[in-house]
Amino acid sequence: MKDLTNQINKNTLPNHIAIIMDGNGRWAKQQNQPRVFGHKNGVGAVRKSIEACAKIGVNYLTLYAFSTENWNRPKLEVKTLMSLLVSSLKKELKTLQKNNIKLNTIGNLENLPKKAQIELADVIEKTKNNTALTLTLALNYGSREEIVNVIKNLSKKVVNKELTIEDIDEKIINNHLYTFSLPDVDLMIRTSGEKRISNFLLWQIAYAELYFTDTLWPDFNEENLFQAIIDYQKRERRFGKTSEQIEKIND
Ligand code: IPE
Ligand code: IPE
Ligand code: MG
Repeated sequence: MKDLTNQINKNTLPNHIAIIMDGNGRWAKQQNQPRVFGHKNGVGAVRKSIEACAKIGVNYLTLYAFSTENWNRPKLEVKTLMSLLVSSLKKELKTLQKNNIKLNTIGNLENLPKKAQIELADVIEKTKNNTALTLTLALNYGSREEIVNVIKNLSKKVVNKELTIEDIDEKIINNHLYTFSLPDVDLMIRTSGEKRISNFLLWQIAYAELYFTDTLWPDFNEENLFQAIIDYQKRERRFGKTSEQIEKIND
């Protein structure tokens, strides 16, 4: 593995990286193994990505671990994913503490197995004062579900006269999303060659840079992550302005 650290500009790191961790099933299939074998081997790539972000100084990492649509998968696969979540949380608490990482979640946790809810609450509590990296796991997360939830909550507030319709703006919507405590995504990565968003952070990626790689998730490592950051740093983020305006700001 190449060490790409010296090619990264520490002053222009993406503040928030989000990853759609895809390709576990295909990775397993390539080795004539059942899909769950891919999920088990995906855990190592999760650890490597977290450690790489902590090492380079990224502040926010958000990982898509289970979508609202993933409940439609075979029962055994869903069960394995949930038990992997519980065992990894137990095992990785030490890594989180050692690297000063704070755990956070987005998504509707109420439908997760009780065991997973308890384990998550425990790790969140134990890491709540950590300050280096905020690691957010998207669990039973779907962007459309999130937006429906926001609309319901805002409507309730309007009905209860806590809010007027005129008060509703982008900031209020932001504050009611699961991601209320997170900054906008700067860089979104998807592995496995698929070029779609699959209901992940639709509002939050409005101005994110998108990076797609053919690497299957269990093979993803520090080098792949740093490659994505290097690619990101070569781009000009214009936010609707002209290139000339951006150059002036950077002068
Ligand atoms: C990503 O890998 C893991 C989850 C969605 C939980 P997949 O399981 O989607 O792998 P492929 O896309 O079938 O290869
Ligand atoms: C997206 O991957 C969800 C996660 C990575 C958790 P999927 O594999 O479920 O996405 P689609 O179905 O191929 O779009
Ligand atoms: Mg997939």
